[in-house]
Amino acid sequence: MAVESETMIDPVSAFPVQEKGREVCGVPLSKLAEKHGTPLYVYNGDFIESGVRSLQQKLRGSGTKIHYAMKANSHPPLLKLLASLDLGVDLVSFGEWKLAADAGFKAEARIWSGLLKKEAELRKVISENGVHAIHVESLPELDLILKVADQTGVGVRIGLRYRSGVDAKTHTKISTARNGDKFGLTEDEILEAVRRIKKSKRGQLLGLSQHIGSQILSLDPYRQSFQKLAKLRMKVEKSLGQTLEYLDLGGGFGIRYHKERPLDAVQVVALARKQFGPDIPLAIEPGRSLVAQAGVLLTEVVFLKKSGKDAFLILDAGMNDLIRPALYDSYHEILPIQAERVKAQKFTVVGGVCESSDVFARGRKIETAGKAGTLLGVFSVGAYGAVMASHYNAFPLAKEVLVRGEVTALHL
Ligand code: LLP
Repeated sequence: MAVESETMIDPVSAFPVQEKGREVCGVPLSKLAEKHGTPLYVYNGDFIESGVRSLQQKLRGSGTKIHYAMKANSHPPLLKLLASLDLGVDLVSFGEWKLAADAGFKAEARIWSGLLKKEAELRKVISENGVHAIHVESLPELDLILKVADQTGVGVRIGLRYRSGVDAKTHTKISTARNGDKFGLTEDEILEAVRRIKKSKRGQLLGLSQHIGSQILSLDPYRQSFQKLAKLRMKVEKSLGQTLEYLDLGGGFGIRYHKERPLDAVQVVALARKQFGPDIPLAIEPGRSLVAQAGVLLTEVVFLKKSGKDAFLILDAGMNDLIRPALYDSYHEILPIQAERVKAQKFTVVGGVCESSDVFARGRKIETAGKAGTLLGVFSVGAYGAVMASHYNAFPLAKEVLVRGEVTALHL
């Protein structure tokens, strides 16, 4: 089976080393840091575009639609780029729905998932016919949707998200389909939902969806979940008296942050085809695998603090800018943007937030002298980086810049 192209799997390949240090689309990263200040998120738009096109190419003829999971990165210029590449979009809030509309994703390209949909939001989206389908995560949500559809007199297309009970064997905080996880509906709840939709005047069931977790590195959990979904599909179609229009397999395709072997979305789709047969249209909802490796967080060393046995690099970026290391103990490559001819030394790399968990790396060997003013890059942050940032400790939000060829779009 084909693996993703090399460019998709390497945390630093979107930012190659040139004469003036690492660059993005021919622009030295140091120049961008100078111009916009640090901390600064930089995204390589060309890299994203070629990754998306390559995936589209590989999936051609497989009957699979790609819905970008916007939660991974909702920087408006980046969304515009993705919308122009003919992708659908997976949304999890009314806020994301508005961003999708602004970015140019057509209503037919939008799927609205997520646990929280409030009545006024549903009223607006349903009355405007503003999504292709709403993916339902609970029975009370379904009741509210059907009520709003009745009141507005507009039909509503529905997908039901299945919680298969399968453990995706990833970090516990990003597993979503185990018993006890808050997402989706059990088999019994799905069958009940089908009955309620059948009884309703304006509800139409289009499909079933699943999303078992994120940063998944093996096909096994998908296989297990697909087997269960296939059985459920038969029951649902029997109850409905007709075939479903699609199955949405979710996202979750893991990438290489350090030494992991990334999971190929194409393999997951091939597995699904085998399980579900040749006819039913499929959808996937990748977030991380489309954008993570296209992002770097530029940050400056403010102090080198030697204290006890430790050498702390105190950066102007912290957990307020990138919470993944604090929240999931995740690994991110950290490298100087301009190579220094020094031997690697061990550093503990921290931000300025008043929390002991504000540590990007502990005892990490980095080839830098660690002088104040040194520009570092924290890599693989194009997904779940800026979108999860906060104002904690009243630090301002980092700026984001999307670079494409000669064009740089700055969003403050
Ligand atoms: N579809 C649904 C319904 C989801 O909940 C998610 C992610 C995705 C698609 C996209 O998954 P991806 O392909 O990006 O793995 N903040 C965490 C990740 C949380 C993912 C939540 N749901 C992290 O930084 O690792």
